Amino acid sequence: MTLSVEHPPSAIGAPLDRVDGPRKVTGAAKYAYEYPVTGVTYAFPVQSTIAKGRVTAIDARAARALPGVLAVLSHENAPRLAPLDDGELAVLQSPAVAYHGQIIAAVVAETPEIARHAASLISVRYEEQPHDVELRANRGGLFKPERLANGDETDSERGDVEGALASAPIALDHTYTTPAEHHNPLEPHATIAVWSDDGERLTLYDSNQGPHTIRDTVAAAFSLPPERVRVIAPYVGGGFGSKLFVHPPLMLAVLAARATGRPVKLALTRQQMFALTGYRTPTIQRVRLGAERDGRLTAIAHDVVEQTGTIHEFTEQTAVATRMMYAAPDRRTTHRLARLDMPVPMYMRAPGECPGMFALESAMDELAVAAGLDPIELRLRNEPAVDPESSHPFSSRGLVTCLREGAQRFGWQPRDPTPRARREGRWLLGTGVAASTYPHYQFPATALAQVDRAGNYRVRIDAADIGTGAWTALTQIAADALEAPVERVQLEIGDSALPPAGLAGGSAGTVSWGWAIVEAARQLRARLRDQYGGVVPPDGIEASGAFDVNPAAQRFSMHAFGAQFAAVRVNQDTGEVRVPRLLGVFAVGRIMNAKTARSQLLGGMTWGLSMALHEASVLDPRFGDFVNHDFAEYHIATNADVGAVDVAWIDEDDPHVDPMGAKGLGEIGIVGTAAAIANAVYHATGIRVRDLPITLDKLLQ
Ligand code: MOS
Repeated sequence: MTLSVEHPPSAIGAPLDRVDGPRKVTGAAKYAYEYPVTGVTYAFPVQSTIAKGRVTAIDARAARALPGVLAVLSHENAPRLAPLDDGELAVLQSPAVAYHGQIIAAVVAETPEIARHAASLISVRYEEQPHDVELRANRGGLFKPERLANGDETDSERGDVEGALASAPIALDHTYTTPAEHHNPLEPHATIAVWSDDGERLTLYDSNQGPHTIRDTVAAAFSLPPERVRVIAPYVGGGFGSKLFVHPPLMLAVLAARATGRPVKLALTRQQMFALTGYRTPTIQRVRLGAERDGRLTAIAHDVVEQTGTIHEFTEQTAVATRMMYAAPDRRTTHRLARLDMPVPMYMRAPGECPGMFALESAMDELAVAAGLDPIELRLRNEPAVDPESSHPFSSRGLVTCLREGAQRFGWQPRDPTPRARREGRWLLGTGVAASTYPHYQFPATALAQVDRAGNYRVRIDAADIGTGAWTALTQIAADALEAPVERVQLEIGDSALPPAGLAGGSAGTVSWGWAIVEAARQLRARLRDQYGGVVPPDGIEASGAFDVNPAAQRFSMHAFGAQFAAVRVNQDTGEVRVPRLLGVFAVGRIMNAKTARSQLLGGMTWGLSMALHEASVLDPRFGDFVNHDFAEYHIATNADVGAVDVAWIDEDDPHVDPMGAKGLGEIGIVGTAAAIANAVYHATGIRVRDLPITLDKLLQ
């Protein structure tokens, strides 16, 4: 198999404007909620106000009496669903309550205002049981899950970690904690569910990260063959993991449409999203490092405690990056879960790597201080020749180059490592660095390529663009593979009626869909040449291509890498942290579109800054709910928080990852940013904040 696009590409890499841009700015691009559907009705959920127990009575008389109300649904009258693996999706199937905010009833009405008002008139009685919602490392009942969310082994162990730590000339033992965080895509989750008149077919206009995945889950729940469900999602206003899979509101919309015989629209409010569409688990991470005096690691232990819900299990793969980042003969990673009366956590941008690398890269900075080494030099000394876990060579590993390039570009040296050495008036200045990484995942995909007599191409694949630029990057990949100008290539994505493809998740979209498109284009060109002598017949021709698995994944360890640099100012009177400058240098293979790639990385770094300084979902343990459940109180970085953010990448030629030479870059941007900022805050102040976010109180000691 040849792995490179045969002809000199012209479109790939160019900073092409988004091909969907005009559609978006003119309003022609429809989002899920905007589809006009005749006879549509509106659903509004009623959420549990207890965290554990059961519903004993629902009084919906006042709601039902309201003009315009079509139905009130609850476990008493909702259509039955087939049993599902994910207990969260058994919406209105039983009176049991497993978390605060769970959907326990819903109103369907002629307008959204009536539905919402009617929902407020429903009174619910519960039999309440004591709930257990607080994550602590020393609590009872922690258990070892079967697998991590990414499918990897729960734990890993090599050598004699405890012995190596005990005898190490330098040994560190610190615990790092990250809070629960919520995805907040600008477009809240929204669905329109439309059943056919005979009740045999279902169409969903839905905001999601992969129509086929949504289709299959819904079809199973309603005992339909998957082909009878169509999921349409050409434009999506962000997802970040919260729209990868079906969540309860989508299921509710389908149930409500089933029950009423009318199409149903359901758009979540921002506040409802904080209980119903997933969140990043809080983590408690104990990191122990053992090293020689020269900084060379002898032992690494990374032991993670995090949470899941009671009705479904999700295990964030928090320590997996620690398995391959640095060489050390003795290593251990573990993940333990607390099963809490809380909503089930979910993948959220760079699940695993994002919180895990905050801990590891903070610990590496602490080791650099302990060893009296520059933190970049420390990382260079611990660069592994092969993947320390699998012993496979890396298909490419650009960490060292990124660190070196970044140091130049950032002006890292000269740097006096002494904390509080630099100041401007009442502001303490510091700089920090951290490494970044994200695995190269790929999922099966199929594409169809067509050409007409006039030389216009159409490429069809059920890819999803969640705002990342997939519309554009895939058009560029197709154009080069078809040897056609981009203007001649029309893409169709975001519809389960198109050839099947996997999720816009795991940074795997472009690198999987792109491969399928390259294959389809090759097949089309081969057919045109071999069967038609290069002349397109009157009816045009088409060909499919598929990507299944990357055989190189068996032989190589494939990851993207990066280096993050931060400059901070900390006010010594108020503890206020400002981040005037961030630099991220990434090794992500070949760049498909310089403009959209930069936007992705910039967005990730900005989110990393937000994670470092602001984001935390605050649990009220008395009620088991997140209290800061909107943009007024869940703080995210705004423009005023973001200084100069410099994004760069190195030239990286990796022939193993895919025919385009691209690595996934959707998630790596957030990885390491928070550690770089925390390390810079230490440099500025001498205060090591091991508990995110870095709020003012933690610096006023
Ligand atoms: Mo990403 S958390 O895999 O959508």
